[in-house]
Amino acid sequence: MLGSESVSIIIKKNKAAKAKKNQQGVKEDRHNLYAASVQCPEADVEFFKKTFKSHTGRPLRSIREDFCGTAALCAEWVKDHEHNHALGVDIDRPTLTWGRENIFPYLTEDEQSRIELKCEDVRKVIDPKVELLCAQNFSYWIFTEREEMLRYFQTARQSITDDGLFVMDLMGGTESTEVDVQTRKITDGVRPDGSKIPAFSYLWDQNSYNPITGKMSCYIHFKMRGGKKMNRAFEYHWRVWTLPEINELLLEAGFKGVDVYTEGWDDETDETDGVFRMRKDFDHEGSWIAYVVAKP
Ligand SMILES: C[S@@+](CC[C@H](N)C(=O)[O-])C[C@H]1O[C@@H](n2cnc3c(N)ncnc32)[C@H](O)[C@@H]1O
Repeated sequence: MLGSESVSIIIKKNKAAKAKKNQQGVKEDRHNLYAASVQCPEADVEFFKKTFKSHTGRPLRSIREDFCGTAALCAEWVKDHEHNHALGVDIDRPTLTWGRENIFPYLTEDEQSRIELKCEDVRKVIDPKVELLCAQNFSYWIFTEREEMLRYFQTARQSITDDGLFVMDLMGGTESTEVDVQTRKITDGVRPDGSKIPAFSYLWDQNSYNPITGKMSCYIHFKMRGGKKMNRAFEYHWRVWTLPEINELLLEAGFKGVDVYTEGWDDETDETDGVFRMRKDFDHEGSWIAYVVAKP
């Protein structure tokens, strides 16, 4: 009979084989395409610095990135200041290794020495304590039961300093649970070495939503110039959580207060203005992204 470790290795191998099959001859690495179309670590870094300074009056120096994947945000953080430190936590070793092999070589030795990566379940790590812990790109929605989410928030509470912050993003809006595929053309993507990625399309596939359980399955596909497609390059099976539910769970986990920040609207460009401000109410239209900031 197979032990649980052997079963988990087989599952991981099957997953890797499935991801490879889905690439259908696309040569570009899926992590490079993901970084170019989904991530903006520079914006997160600016938000973290500004928010921490306004809460504590001092500069932020240590962060922990939960569900860090390739640790792109950790890399951005240590580049931003010579005294900055980052801890990245992710349960998937191959993804952490990809970051180590493909992103870290473009950091200086000193920058690399200020990043620590842990291959672990985020609910099992409480040390070293950091000034700001973050969970970006809705990754914590993997916890679909109230008890699981509460346990994660309790761990987060124990993992930050007395005046630290726990920051996560949350998406919502009238379109956020619609079954739909949105396509965006990406023309400005670059690889970690600075070389340009040829234009491609990013497809965000909100594939199914069950209004009874709140469970949602989403996929990311990429379509390259010439028509080659990388199907289901990434997949997510989440529960959709709302701001009041998250707020209540954070207070239950021991946080004393929760602030919500969203962007404003620019009437001239007819787009969001890119500036996140603390709000008590905002228009629930289309789809929006908020930063949730929990304070001990
Ligand atoms: C959507 S990716 C997030 C990547 C990155 N945070 C970002 O902003 O784009 C989700 C990551 O969560 C990791 N993950 C899932 N469950 C986890 C857990 N319980 N503990 C640690 N990492 C986990 C996966 O391995 C995956 O790399």
